[in-house]
Amino acid sequence: MNILLLGSGGRESALARVIAKSSLTENFFISPGNPGMEQYGKCIELKGFENMGNFCMQNRIDMLVVGPEQPLVDGISDFFAGTKGLKNIVVIGPNKTAAQLEGSKDFSKQFMQRHDIPTARYQTFNAKTVEQGKKFLQTLNPPYVLKADGLAAGKGVVIAQNLDQAKKELEEMLLDAKFGQASSQVVIEEYLNGIECSVFVLTDGKNYVLLPEAKDYKRAGEGDTGLNTGGMGSISPVKFCTEEFLNKVKTRIIDRTIQGLQKENIHYQGFIFFGLMNVEGNPYVIEYNVRMGDPESESVFARFDSDIVKAFSLIKEQRLNEYQIKISPQTAATVMLCSGGYPQEYEKGKVINGLDSTEDAIVYHAGTKNENGKTVTAGGRVIAVTCLSDGLQAALDKCYRNIGKISFDNKYFRKDIGKDLL
Ligand SMILES: Nc1ncnc2c1ncn2[C@@H]1O[C@H](COP(=O)(O)OP(=O)(O)O)[C@@H](O)[C@H]1O
Ligand SMILES: [Mg+2]
Repeated sequence: MNILLLGSGGRESALARVIAKSSLTENFFISPGNPGMEQYGKCIELKGFENMGNFCMQNRIDMLVVGPEQPLVDGISDFFAGTKGLKNIVVIGPNKTAAQLEGSKDFSKQFMQRHDIPTARYQTFNAKTVEQGKKFLQTLNPPYVLKADGLAAGKGVVIAQNLDQAKKELEEMLLDAKFGQASSQVVIEEYLNGIECSVFVLTDGKNYVLLPEAKDYKRAGEGDTGLNTGGMGSISPVKFCTEEFLNKVKTRIIDRTIQGLQKENIHYQGFIFFGLMNVEGNPYVIEYNVRMGDPESESVFARFDSDIVKAFSLIKEQRLNEYQIKISPQTAATVMLCSGGYPQEYEKGKVINGLDSTEDAIVYHAGTKNENGKTVTAGGRVIAVTCLSDGLQAALDKCYRNIGKISFDNKYFRKDIGKDLL
């Protein structure tokens, strides 16, 4: 199989690693990739769907694996399905209609409501209905959850502590375009008090394979304080995701989602990420993502002991039910090394040392580039280190030991990943 993977972050590094391991993989290309991904495949930069399509034809690509959400929401899957010469390429990632599960929070809430999928009570408002929005806020208890409807790079959700603040936020989002076009509609929802986790499936639209669950750590500061980030670390498995809880997730959430899509004639192939809140043992959907998570993928795929390309190849004929997934019983822990200052201002171009000195660790690049023969920092989240061991404590110990071996100016990381679950 010839494969093209799109993306350049930690998530795509984790995907690239398992794709490269498959005996079915022949030529493997990554666009744009990063220096750490060169060990897995050939990194090339392709801009725009046309270029990607032409490249796929020239290189007889069989499979396109889409890492991030933006190209999916922009319709890359539809472009391939509708273009002569590209139709037969299996795209791992949903079409534009299905991608609205992530691309529009209002769409996803309506979908959940139609199919009786547990989620927080909500209403959606626009610039013309700001006053109704304020009235709806008055019916809720604090804190208040306001979500920009569209894609906002993980920054479009505001949790306001009191009513005045919530009303002000609502006005800023709807009337001052706080998040641009993304906040032309705002979902206001009830606050769910619980503990979050993420569950992932790979689906062919009919069958699905359940991947290991994970917990990620999104806030920049210790003890889940400070600003939201793209993710500071993750662990898998998650001890409160018991068999009983996961069974509820399957019957109340995953099955209803897949069946709901089928009922609405929305074809979905690819990964679905269920962002969940565990409220006293019962799962509620916080959001859907139409791709894998980052940095959850780093931990999830570290435990993945089967052939991912085999699974991808069964998708086209909707034969994923034949797939046997094998998951390592070990615990994976991932800690993200960041540039000091992230998620606010930070410097780039710092030389990274010690990348080859780690032991029994997977070192994924997230924001690096090559400069004068050296690997330097090129983003806020720079390197993800993932370790596997028996139990969470051992996995974390190994991970933090390895992190000490990698250095760059102003390196920052959270020291408490996974600690809440020890
Ligand atoms: N109804 C809710 N109750 C409590 N917390 C919520 C709720 N909705 C979202 N959150 C919090 O806000 C975060 C971001 O919301 P989410 O819907 O995942 O948006 P996005 O990932 O697109 O920014 C969640 O991870 C969760 O911590
Ligand atoms: Mg989220």
